[in-house]
Amino acid sequence: MTKALLGIIGGSGVYDLPGLTDIREEKVVSPWGEPSDVLRFGRIGATEAVFLPRHGRGHCLSPDGINYRANIDALKRAGVTDVISVSACGSFRGELPPGMFVAVDQFVDRTFGRQSSFFGNGCVAHVSMAHPVAPLLQHRIIAAAHAEKIDIVKGGTYVCMEGPQFSSKAESLGYKAAGFSVIGMTALPEAKLAREAEMSYATLAMVTDFDCWHDEIAAVEVSDILAIAKSNAEKAARLVARLLADFPAEHQTCPIGSDRALDYALVTAREA
Ligand code: ADE
Repeated sequence: MTKALLGIIGGSGVYDLPGLTDIREEKVVSPWGEPSDVLRFGRIGATEAVFLPRHGRGHCLSPDGINYRANIDALKRAGVTDVISVSACGSFRGELPPGMFVAVDQFVDRTFGRQSSFFGNGCVAHVSMAHPVAPLLQHRIIAAAHAEKIDIVKGGTYVCMEGPQFSSKAESLGYKAAGFSVIGMTALPEAKLAREAEMSYATLAMVTDFDCWHDEIAAVEVSDILAIAKSNAEKAARLVARLLADFPAEHQTCPIGSDRALDYALVTAREA
């Protein structure tokens, strides 16, 4: 039996995991560079977890300055089987107001200039990203939210922009017209790298603002995000604690193959 080990990546406002016991911190060295912070190991109930604050403690790393490859590689080396990322986001829909959580199931990549693959010349691989979110994890996020009476919407498309500046109104209206649900700066290339590392991945998107498409609500500023970050973080902590407490000890095979994504993805001959 393979034991499940859950990796939690905390975004803006989420710099620790309340309720974690038997805490041990470890600096993991990665050939891909420096992860955002030390890994914090612990458990909630019987489930072991590893927490990594994406922006580092003190929020020193900008979305475009995070070493996503080092973060995902460090979690993989730690033995993580499943990754839940917690991310603040702007909303393109009236029915997704600040404070609403979204268990997104699709991503659109509008980043540029980020290292988004472990592969390249010398070893070529093309993993499938048709279904970027592991359905069992998405299901567990929703079940934990319901158990904690936290409002959550199932499904939605998260567009990831490069940042660090927010969008222009024209961009925001374009994303809204395209049918995207929420916008953030960090879920990619994280989701792609987790897939290449054969770890199941899901994002808990926490709405903090209406970006800047709305005619009656002022364009997003950092102060809007900070104003709601505390209550979002408190709810996210409860949700994640519940999810961990209910998580099965044994790793469950991912129905869409996140945990064996390289089986059909490698192009380079093994003897090359
Ligand atoms: N994170 C939180 N709100 C955001 C927004 N409106 N755009 C990009 N990233 C965000």
